[in-house]
Order: sequence, then structure tokens, then C-alpha cells
Amino acid sequence: RISGVSLRRVLDSRGNPTVEADVLTVSGGFGRAAAPSGASTGEHEAIELPPGEAIAAARKHAVPRLVETVHAGNQREVDAALRGADGTENFSEIGANSAVAISMAAAKAGADVLGAPLYQHLGGAFRGENFPVPLGNVVGGGEHAADATHIQEFLAAPVGAPSVAEAAFANAAVHETVGELLTERGVPAAKGDEGAWAPAIDDAEAFEIVAEACERVAEDVGFEVTFGLDMAASELWNGDAYQYGETSRSPAEQIDYVADLVEEYELAYVEDPLEENDFAGFAELTDRVGDRTLLCGDDLFVTNTERLQQGIEMAAGNSILIKPNQIGTLSLAVDAIETATRNGFTPVISHRSGETEDTTIAHLAVATGAPFIKTGTVGGERTAKLNELIRIAEDAV
Ligand code: PGA
Ligand code: ZN
Repeated sequence: RISGVSLRRVLDSRGNPTVEADVLTVSGGFGRAAAPSGASTGEHEAIELPPGEAIAAARKHAVPRLVETVHAGNQREVDAALRGADGTENFSEIGANSAVAISMAAAKAGADVLGAPLYQHLGGAFRGENFPVPLGNVVGGGEHAADATHIQEFLAAPVGAPSVAEAAFANAAVHETVGELLTERGVPAAKGDEGAWAPAIDDAEAFEIVAEACERVAEDVGFEVTFGLDMAASELWNGDAYQYGETSRSPAEQIDYVADLVEEYELAYVEDPLEENDFAGFAELTDRVGDRTLLCGDDLFVTNTERLQQGIEMAAGNSILIKPNQIGTLSLAVDAIETATRNGFTPVISHRSGETEDTTIAHLAVATGAPFIKTGTVGGERTAKLNELIRIAEDAV
């Protein structure tokens, strides 16, 4: 049983405050986890409260329901208590940031009590042996960097990598090569919130550079390294059209544009090609290029099983991004993963632009056999997850 929960404000990778939770059990188990935070958040996400408010509300409503009554090892029970304590549909009472920090910390405490690694506790004895391919942000802009590309993320996708370590190093090599190509072109580039280069170039030039870098690295490592995108199109959408600086694309033009990009660059992955309520547009795009690429809903689905259900019925997309803090608990995130997998949608486990050293998503990806994880390429809060995957691979495969 849980004997105590403590909550504090800690720093995230942007220097903003976020919620960290410690969970202690009567038998001496301990777990600690911190909530990440988005910048290009979807309008249908669970509510992130200012950390001070989230902590005060969780102390008042959630902690008394957990302490002395709930078993840390019973994740469904922990997460049901969190939902009961909150009482709303979107965690607006205690904050999804408090909820997800407690949910993840309890999972770690449960694993500690069992003496098992977290991926084993979450995945169970009959867990499969799939290991996720990391998608690594190498060029980015949008809401993650000012005066850079309009498309939010260009993601290296080392789909042919024989191991997660080789995949992570291939992504790092693409990142480095992109940096060299930018220097050759005399383009100075700082890094955005997720560690990707944030050069002041147009999207067309970014496609050229990333394609070239992936080709060079693929030749070097001897396996397929391709790339994908997070277009974060809700951030480009002005209510009528998709706005790329001066260039404007109607919804129909946006669909043509994305379909052409998929063909021209053989993109492995396109996230949020359309704004967060356009299920019909997603369905049309899926009809056109869904057999050739992953069309992933992030802001569209927000890790919400009901919204995913609508996507499944309409064949809107073929993939879902999974961010536990979008929905508030690990149980709800796993529900979305299981619904996706049962219906042929590919789950992609994901970090947020504001991150911490927390590695729960690496364990979640291995536990659920998710084929992909999107967790950046460089920067300590990103490599924390990648290095954890490298360690897990030593004993899990
Ligand atoms: P966010 O961006 O964490 O700022 O929402 C990541 C994404 O859009 O995938
Ligand atoms: Zn996204």
C-alpha cells in the first residue's frame, strides 16, 4: 500500500516549473516521476494547471485517497483513484500534470516493490519482444523555435536499424550531418526546444538538407535511414487556410501538398498534417497515401480513446501519438495504445517539448511493444530516454 505521496516543483528543460511526485509504500517501495509539458498543445488535451495550483489541489483531493488505501503495484487502482479524486473529464481539478506525475511515480514504486524493472512491471510476463525505433528531431521550428522552419519537426527515422543503440546513434549522426550542411551553406543555427537545429531557412531547403543528411548517414551505417515530419498543422491553421509565412494553402491544397511530399521524399511518417478537428481531411489523406506512410494523429487524438475511436471508424489516419500527460494517467494511455493496436493503428510513444530527466516513456514503449518512440536526438532530457532504451535492450532482448 501507498504510505505517502510528496509533490514538489522542479525545473523542466525550458526552465519552467513542473510537478514532480514521490510515492512511498508501506513495504519500503519508492518511485519518483515528473510531468512533461507541451508548447504546441492540442485544444482537446487534459488540463495542465500552474504547478503550484496543481500541487495544492492534488494534496487536498488526491493524496488522501491514495495513502493507506491503494496499492502502488495496482496501476488501474491508482489511476482510478486519481480520476475519482479529480472528478472531471479532463483533470481540470487536480491538473493532468499532478495526475501523470503521481501515476508514473506509483508505477515505479510498484516496480520497486516487485524488484522488477518498470518495463517488466508495466508489460507483464507475456510482454512481446518488439523494441521501438526512435524518431529523432533534427530540424525544427514552428512553436519550438522562432524564425525557423514553418514545419515544426523534421524527424530522422532509422527504420532499418538492427538495434535501438544503432538507431539512436544514426539519428545523432543525421543531426550532426545536418549541422555540417548548414555550416557549409553559411546558415547559422541555434537549437530549438527539443535540441533540433532551428535555422532560418524555408521548408524546401530543410527538405533538401535533411534528405541529403539521411542519405549520407544511411550509406555510412549500411541500413535504411529515412525521415518524417511533425507538421503540427493546428499551429499553421488560421481558421480558413494553412499559413506558411506568406504562402497560404487551402485544406484541399494542404492535402495535395502532403501527398506530394510523401511521394517525393518517401516519408516514413507524417504527424498532424491537418488541423486538430479535421477528421475528414485525415481520412482523405489516408485514402491517398495511407498505404505508403504513417499518418499520425497527435493534436487530433490527444491520447484519448474516444477520439481515437472516431478516427478508427472514419479511417482517419493509421497511427496515434501517445503522450501520457495529454490524458493524465498511464492506464488511460495504455487503453489508447491497446485500442490502436487492436484496430491496426500504429502507436508512437512521445516526449513533449518541455521534458525532464524522467524515463517512463522509454519503459512504456518497451512494455507495450510500440513500434516507434519520438523522443528527440540530443540534449540530456532527450538522451535520458534513449540511453534508458539502450540499457533496457541489454536485458530485455
Ligand atoms: P509539444 O510538441 O510537446 O510542444 O506539444 C510536440 C509535438 O507536437 O509532438
Ligand atoms: Zn505533434
